[in-house]
Amino acid sequence: MAMAGLPLLQVVVVVAAAVVAVSSGATTAPAGCTAPADSGSTLRVLHAFGPCSPFHSSASWEDTVLDLLSRDDSRLLYLASLATARRSFVPIAPGRQLLQTPTYVVRARLGNPPQPLLLAVDTSSDVAWLPCSGCTGCPYSAAASPFDTSRSITYRPVPCGAPPCSQVPNPSCPAGSTACGFNITYGSSSLLASLAQDSLSLASDVVSGYNFGCLKKTTGPSVPPQGLLGLGRGPLSFLSQTRNIYASTFSYCLPSFKSLNFSGTLRLGPAGQPYRIKTTPLHSNPHRSSLYYVDMVGIRVGPKVVDIPPAALTFDAATGGGTIFDSGTMFTRLVAPAYVAVRDEFRRRVRGAGKVTSLGGFDTCYNGPFVAPGITFMFVGMNVTLPADNYLIHSTAGSITCLAMAAAPDNVNSVLNVIANMQQMNHRVLFDVPNGRLGVARERCTF
Ligand SMILES: *[C@@H]1O[C@H](CO)[C@@H](O)[C@H](O)[C@H]1NC(C)=O
Ligand SMILES: *[C@@H]1O[C@H](CO)[C@@H](O)[C@H](O)[C@H]1NC(C)=O
Ligand SMILES: *[C@@H]1O[C@H](CO)[C@@H](O)[C@H](O)[C@H]1NC(C)=O
Repeated sequence: MAMAGLPLLQVVVVVAAAVVAVSSGATTAPAGCTAPADSGSTLRVLHAFGPCSPFHSSASWEDTVLDLLSRDDSRLLYLASLATARRSFVPIAPGRQLLQTPTYVVRARLGNPPQPLLLAVDTSSDVAWLPCSGCTGCPYSAAASPFDTSRSITYRPVPCGAPPCSQVPNPSCPAGSTACGFNITYGSSSLLASLAQDSLSLASDVVSGYNFGCLKKTTGPSVPPQGLLGLGRGPLSFLSQTRNIYASTFSYCLPSFKSLNFSGTLRLGPAGQPYRIKTTPLHSNPHRSSLYYVDMVGIRVGPKVVDIPPAALTFDAATGGGTIFDSGTMFTRLVAPAYVAVRDEFRRRVRGAGKVTSLGGFDTCYNGPFVAPGITFMFVGMNVTLPADNYLIHSTAGSITCLAMAAAPDNVNSVLNVIANMQQMNHRVLFDVPNGRLGVARERCTF
């Protein structure tokens, strides 16, 4: 039952155009960035570092890759921290850096009258965060102005004692205040937010009374300028809050990070989802309730299923081991024995290349052209054979090409395999929670 926001429809179009105007006006974005409109329950998706994004940087390819890989390291720390972060009010482990990983963004509008926002699509996170007006220390930019609470007639702080207040980390109700406040510390940064409600509009749907964290104060170096759309499965996630609208079902197609457009889509709800799609069962892990675990049973490189110790792939709720699909990590990370087996076989089968070199965190790179073997991720009931664009990353200068995967860093999530967004680009990935399955089908959504 998608709620069509009829009174908002006019505004929607105008507001969407306004966001694009801002983004294409940013100094680093090239001319000609256009954006198809959102419609129905389908949202257009753009890579946060793509050339048309307001968050695009003009750094060199090498610098960008290094930066993205180091963001992945923070991301893996965050994924590891979920093991202890769940269930009531356990303090969040240092290193929770979910906000530092802007990857793919969608356009949303919050409040009444609606204010445009860009939200990062994050399948492994439950909470929504937004920079709010008056926030101390939030990075402001023309492309991502904060949500102005005073301009929305439907904005409501969530009071202490209200049920959602018991679901946030470290809730606090200081004397003299009735609003539910909470904070998160990570690395050298901390965020202080208050829990609030307002109407969230996505494409032509309106979610009223949407709970989100309104950022009031941040300290530390790197709080990203946009908000977060938590598509995890935990109690306060967008998915849980909209269960009666979208039935915990969504799919996305992530465009290439080089895409100029909002050419990918996030499709919310069971309607319009692919009918013919290969699927594999989803596991849920009570200790990491937001994550989407699947059973990866093997990896094929060329024609050969490489030799990986079964323990490196087996789902284990207690240790957190197994394999997840994640929209917020850029490059697939495999536990060391799995990565080494894949990498060694890949190197053996590469044809026509010179010596192996490394670049940043990638250890299997070559100068000049070469013929790469195919790579297939094998899941229960579903094999996914990746096109080369999903596992080879080329320098824009044209000379270096790397296998775009890496081993999970030692002692950070060393048991978790993460199928990351580069490996999902130009595929429709379906998250069908009610039917306990995740589906993958090729779909070109890069224009
Ligand atoms: C953006 O995508 C549309 C189709 O959705 C296409 O017609 C247009 O040429 C694209 N623009 C750029 C700059 O790639
Ligand atoms: C965060 O919350 C904890 C516990 O409620 C409190 O001790 C701490 O002072 C808070 N930090 C900030 C920056 O408000
Ligand atoms: C996946 O590929 C393997 C070997 O290449 C094959 O044995 C298996 O049947 C395939 N699985 C599916 C679901 O097609």
